[in-house]
Amino acid sequence: MDLYLKGKTAVVTGASQGFGRAITKELAIEGVRVFATARNEALLHSLKAEIAAAGGVEPVTFIQDFEAPEAPQQIAAAALVALGQVDILVNNTGRSRPLDVIGAEEEWRAGMTLDFDRHRQLTQQLLPQMMERKSGVVLNVISSYELRTINASAVAKGAIVVWSKQLAGELGQYGIRVNCLQPGLIDTANIRRFFTDEARAAFAAREIPLGDFGAAQDVADMVTFLVSPRAKYITGTVAVVDGGMRHHPF
Ligand SMILES: NC(=O)c1ccc[n+]([C@@H]2O[C@H](COP(=O)([O-])OP(=O)(O)OC[C@H]3O[C@@H](n4cnc5c(N)ncnc54)[C@H](OP(=O)(O)O)[C@@H]3O)[C@@H](O)[C@H]2O)c1
Repeated sequence: MDLYLKGKTAVVTGASQGFGRAITKELAIEGVRVFATARNEALLHSLKAEIAAAGGVEPVTFIQDFEAPEAPQQIAAAALVALGQVDILVNNTGRSRPLDVIGAEEEWRAGMTLDFDRHRQLTQQLLPQMMERKSGVVLNVISSYELRTINASAVAKGAIVVWSKQLAGELGQYGIRVNCLQPGLIDTANIRRFFTDEARAAFAAREIPLGDFGAAQDVADMVTFLVSPRAKYITGTVAVVDGGMRHHPF
């Protein structure tokens, strides 16, 4: 199926590994020029080589700590210079942040900054040029927010969902779509640190109807569809990629 993505431009945050890396590669293979940003220069460099080997459009890479207050402005300005215009924004950076019931203020602040505020600020930097052209797509990678334990990242992601739905309501008139992608448990560095192989197998057998954690590619496939013109009637929604898990029992 032609996704009609060829020739489009995209910004992907958290692009060095995990979902962001898979999304960048998939979009590049579909003919999208991606502005790929993260902190790890070596990983972004190897991603470029991987995309070249797969015959994709060479991405522009940009090293930036997303927690830095100036990150949204820096990324948006550099992306607009490199790409001319940004058709697609994939807000993906994030880090699971389990906390005690009374978590440290600094951890709450860092979680809300990285997983909510910076995404909102980067989106606000890039929206004017989308609104002017009456065209654009924003895709926010979130998480399960119905946990039974405290996790600052999941609280921030919950805020992202509410904000996304509000944005979708405001921006439909400008031809801009805003959606969220909610993963279950996907095998990346972000999640691997919490599970031994045995714990993963036992958890998956008990809780995931499809029997295992997902792969970053499973997320990339859904994201690629959602940001494509094929999804032109989909906005303000949360797409779930979780092997049927549906809820977190912890
Ligand atoms: N994997 C899952 O099962 C799962 C479940 C729920 C939600 N999620 C969400 O999905 C998104 C991607 O997760 P993932 O599993 O792919 O994680 P990952 O493998 O740990 O990758 C995270 C990406 O974010 C970047 N990043 C983290 N902190 C950064 C910072 N301060 N500045 C710039 N970049 C930063 C990392 O790049 P550098 O280290 O190079 O900076 C990396 O590219 C996150 O928002 C996460 O919360 C994942």
